[in-house]
Amino acid sequence: MSDAPRITESAVAEAVDAALAAVASAADSAALKAARSAHAGEASPLAQLNAAIRDLPGSEKAAAGKLVGQARARVAEAFTARQEQLAAEEEQARLAAEAVDVTAIAPRRRLGARHPLTMLMEEMADIFVGMGWEVGEGPEVDHEWFIFDALNTDPDHPARSEQDTLYLSPTQRHLALRSHTSTVQIRSLLSRPLPVYVVAPGKVFRRDELDATHTPVFHQIEGIAIDRGLTMAHLRGTLEHLARAMFGPEARIRLRPNFFPFTEPSAEMDVWHPTAKGGPRWIEWGGCGMVDPNVLRSAGVDPAEYQGFAFGMGIERTLQFRNGLSDMRDMVEGDVRFSQQFGMVV
Ligand code: FA5
Ligand code: MG
Repeated sequence: MSDAPRITESAVAEAVDAALAAVASAADSAALKAARSAHAGEASPLAQLNAAIRDLPGSEKAAAGKLVGQARARVAEAFTARQEQLAAEEEQARLAAEAVDVTAIAPRRRLGARHPLTMLMEEMADIFVGMGWEVGEGPEVDHEWFIFDALNTDPDHPARSEQDTLYLSPTQRHLALRSHTSTVQIRSLLSRPLPVYVVAPGKVFRRDELDATHTPVFHQIEGIAIDRGLTMAHLRGTLEHLARAMFGPEARIRLRPNFFPFTEPSAEMDVWHPTAKGGPRWIEWGGCGMVDPNVLRSAGVDPAEYQGFAFGMGIERTLQFRNGLSDMRDMVEGDVRFSQQFGMVV
């Protein structure tokens, strides 16, 4: 071959230097493989120098063979050493990347949390379950009969007015968003054998303005106990137990005579609120009383044989007193920081 390179020490040294520089600068196995093919492959300068030995006169072959052979050996050795080094480094990196830290805190999926009101509602129901009561429920949209008529409420009672209750149209269907959980009193009596001890937490709706102590959509927990020989003393004992479970052993409640169509006698129940805005005072927590005989008759229960009591209190008010919250509006605005104050991880 006419363009065969001349085998000189400097030509060999140049090819070796270029090969060693390429070895040194190969940062990973792939780069090293490319460098090997360029500097030690069939078309590389060293391979061409090696091939040129063939064309030398016999007397020069041995020396040239030794020169090129040593150069190729040196380069091959450098490639192998670097290949081993890179393989070890890459293995190390792969193991590090695949390592599992069993003590690491797993990334948490943000699933949300239940609202403090929901939790409180369940906690209150649980207190009754612990006394052997059952949990009942009723629909949020209900017939006027369950909301008012069966509860001995006169057709012209102010609570029925459209100023207070949210009716569904057409009004001839007599459907409304329930304005209290007392609807569950009748449902419990109609659907269960006596005696009946039922609590029913749930959502209620009224045309009330949103302010520090009212919201138009709120929650109540209703209780009804119908058995032989139940008295006002049982009512009071039950409410005091609930108050202490909610607000601590020092909790105090007070019953004030009041009127509800479905109980006789009736009382409004206040709870002592030591952290109320504007100083400690009694605040209305709920209503209660001895179930009116007319309500028992609506549900087919003989009032001569069975009597009992009922009560209904606000869950928002309970949360407010229990946690010293001055403004109910904070509960309904949906700001997660509200829930976080209660330790909820949202
Ligand atoms: C009633 O709803 C009666 N059904 C309670 C009852 C049940 C009496 C059984 C007798 C026997 P009242 O309207 O007072 O009563 O409401 C009861 C409680 O619900 C109130 O004391 C208060 O804690 C809460 N509440 C009433 N309106 C609101 C409102 N707009 N926002 C938040 N809580 C309210
Ligand atoms: Mg009231």
